[in-house]
Amino acid sequence: MLRFMSAFLLVVGLSLSSASAQTLPLPSVWKNARGSEMRIWPGPTAGSFRGVYTNNAAGFDCQGIPFDLVGETSATAVRFVVVWKNAMKSCNSITAWVGSLIGNDILRTGWELAYVDRNTGLMKTLRGSDVFRRVP
Ligand code: BTN
Repeated sequence: MLRFMSAFLLVVGLSLSSASAQTLPLPSVWKNARGSEMRIWPGPTAGSFRGVYTNNAAGFDCQGIPFDLVGETSATAVRFVVVWKNAMKSCNSITAWVGSLIGNDILRTGWELAYVDRNTGLMKTLRGSDVFRRVP
């Protein structure tokens, strides 16, 4: 009976811990409501990830081209950065997203974009939010 109870508790414990474990699935592909897409995979250190981000958001520059992405995650917290410069194009800007994982396939973020105003040469910032859904 004791053996049966121990096995039962082990099974219940394992299924509870896997149900509550919410960590960023890597590799994975995500799309936000603006039509932008990010593909991410594990980075070189624990909790880090790398990827490419293709911006398709209306009203922004640097569209339709993949840019490198670096990020880190810990439990449900997720943060990542894209510098909008690659071999093809530079937008002279950078975006940082900070957010949290909801379940396994929704990522709710807030972002800040820093760019250089072409007329004044001064740095300006824009803020917004993005909700990403995991692409199956
Ligand atoms: C730029 O226009 O300077 C570079 C592209 C910025 C795209 C922004 S980043 C935040 C928001 N979410 C997206 O998917 N695209 C826009």
